[in-house]
Amino acid sequence: MKLSRTITVINGPNLSQLGNRETEHYGTTTQDELLEMIKEKASKDGFTADYIQSDIEGELVSAINSASGTSFGIVINPAAYSHYSIAIMDAMAAFDGPVVEVHISRVFSRDSFRNNLVTAQAADAFIAGAGVRGYLHAMNILYELAEKTEV
Ligand code: DQA
Repeated sequence: MKLSRTITVINGPNLSQLGNRETEHYGTTTQDELLEMIKEKASKDGFTADYIQSDIEGELVSAINSASGTSFGIVINPAAYSHYSIAIMDAMAAFDGPVVEVHISRVFSRDSFRNNLVTAQAADAFIAGAGVRGYLHAMNILYELAEKTEV
């Protein structure tokens, strides 16, 4: 199967506040700066990155479903929904390519409810605690997973 040259990066609730929000956990990089890092890496690697951020669960589900057919893989940080959204987990499971879940912070070293990772059960790979650079690592993993399955 011929791979599309596009990936989709999806960020969940409150991630528009990066740079100002709990900087001890999420750092000082803003959403705009993160987007710039993602676009620059994608272009260096010969890909295009679509980017969606939403605070709304159903919009995240729709974004995952819409990526089918346009993108060969998804990098997703479902944020707080990671801990309880079966709808997002189901959409990730239904996606027809690799999905890498990212968490900026060290989710296992924080509140105990953050240890419960529902959506991650449908992820092909998982990165936590690498800061915003985790998205860039996730992109490399996505390329490798896509090559293994489809090239
Ligand atoms: C997060 C971790 C979640 O527990 C939290 O609700 C977030 C961000 C992270 O990137 O570390 O909003 O997904």
